[in-house]
Amino acid sequence: MYSIKINEKRVTGKRNPMIYGHFIEHFHRQIYDGIYDPGNPLSDEEGFRTDIMEAMRKIKVPILRWPGGCFVSSYHWKDAVGPERKPLFDKAWRVEDPNTFGTDEYVKLCNKLGCEPYICTNAGTGTPEEMSDWVEYCNLEDEGQFAKWRIANGYEKPHKVKYWSIGNENYGGWEIGAKCADEWGRLVREAAKMMKHVDPETELSAAAIPDVDWNMNLLKNCGPYLDWISIHQYWDMMPEVNNPATYEQCMAWTKNVSRAVDDVRGILTALHLEDKIKIAFDEWNLRSWHHPNVHSIKQGVGKDTYVTPRDKNDDNSTYTMADAVFTACFLNAMNRNCDIVGMANFAPILNTRGCIYSYDKGIVLRSTYHVFDLYVNYLGDTVIDMWSEDEMPTLNVNYKWGAPETVDTLDLIATKWSDKEGIAVAAVNKHMDESQEIAIDGDFENAKVVMYSISGNDKDSYNDIDRNEVTINEEIIGRFESGMKITLKPHSVNVIQILPI
Ligand code: AHR
Repeated sequence: MYSIKINEKRVTGKRNPMIYGHFIEHFHRQIYDGIYDPGNPLSDEEGFRTDIMEAMRKIKVPILRWPGGCFVSSYHWKDAVGPERKPLFDKAWRVEDPNTFGTDEYVKLCNKLGCEPYICTNAGTGTPEEMSDWVEYCNLEDEGQFAKWRIANGYEKPHKVKYWSIGNENYGGWEIGAKCADEWGRLVREAAKMMKHVDPETELSAAAIPDVDWNMNLLKNCGPYLDWISIHQYWDMMPEVNNPATYEQCMAWTKNVSRAVDDVRGILTALHLEDKIKIAFDEWNLRSWHHPNVHSIKQGVGKDTYVTPRDKNDDNSTYTMADAVFTACFLNAMNRNCDIVGMANFAPILNTRGCIYSYDKGIVLRSTYHVFDLYVNYLGDTVIDMWSEDEMPTLNVNYKWGAPETVDTLDLIATKWSDKEGIAVAAVNKHMDESQEIAIDGDFENAKVVMYSISGNDKDSYNDIDRNEVTINEEIIGRFESGMKITLKPHSVNVIQILPI
């Protein structure tokens, strides 16, 4: 038995809703033949899939990062606005992009979803001027040629894009227009200067990594101009070989999902920037995307070796309770660090490794979708103190490469709402086949206990077309009594609500 004690008067912090954010890139059916599907009977008059948008609204997508990702590092936004669109050969993903989905379509989508736009700019082949011109186009009333261009394109009012990222992963050799730390600090400073001069209301992020040299250089050059620092992480790396880790192997990665946050927090604190700059974990997913041979420059290598294999991302059997349990552990960690993590973006929201899969006649809500539903709609917005005097049960598992690891079997956080009475505990049981019992101590008088859970039929359960093994189940536990036992099914994500009767 693992007893937890909760003190709702001791507040860790109020999480920013943007830690439940998302990302969508011009890659493999996320945009085209994905959310933007003109001509499909399920799409509205502007070409956006209504079924996908409805699913996105249900998990209250708070912010949507776009257009990349690697795509953005050779993307020029001016080719994709106005009546004349210039098709792009996308040098990142080596396919043609018709540019029929551009800034105006993206902002329209965000307005339909009721979410904040978050634009990542091209710091690969782009320039500080191109970035700041983009801010002019989106945010100035009518001054200058770019605001006037937006008006001429039929958008009288500014798009009011508040969140902007300078660059994607320009630290990596895989990125078009990769930069060294020195170059990066100076480029970001010049870009940030111009973007803030256009619109000081913007909040700017820049690509970073949990690396001291890179971040020190970035922050020393740009600290005054930045509001966010952007980090990315995938754990089950499958860019070249699509061999998803097993449930047990995925549990090993839950050992320390906030390591990158801890490292960047340390650097921000050392520079006395921890109160000024927040962390945007603006790409994360247990599973990396599969896009083999994309950097191959061998002769005789055709699209069948680097485009066709991307369809393997669409195999819905990949996304099991391992993905749901890992996602819940990650979101718990971001909630625990809500004082410094202000945004996190699941990469991506749609198709590829997303929480929603779409096909011509409908959608599939993958296991991770239901975790977002639980956390957004059933969990509180304020993280409160919770502790235990019992020994945490542990689980012995192995990483994908065989190394052993011992992880906590349970992952728990306690929350309350800022606008209503009651508390909600997120409780994850990682064990492959054993239930775990917890007890909740607290003085919640005249309260009822309801538990909302996802567990699937087994650890490898998944959802697919005409297959719905992973859904949220409601269990009325009964009247609250301090110390009451609650059983968590194996491989389950649970939200236990204790509400006044
Ligand atoms: O695999 C997709 C890529 O992962 C994104 O485009 C990039 O930002 C990250 O490296």
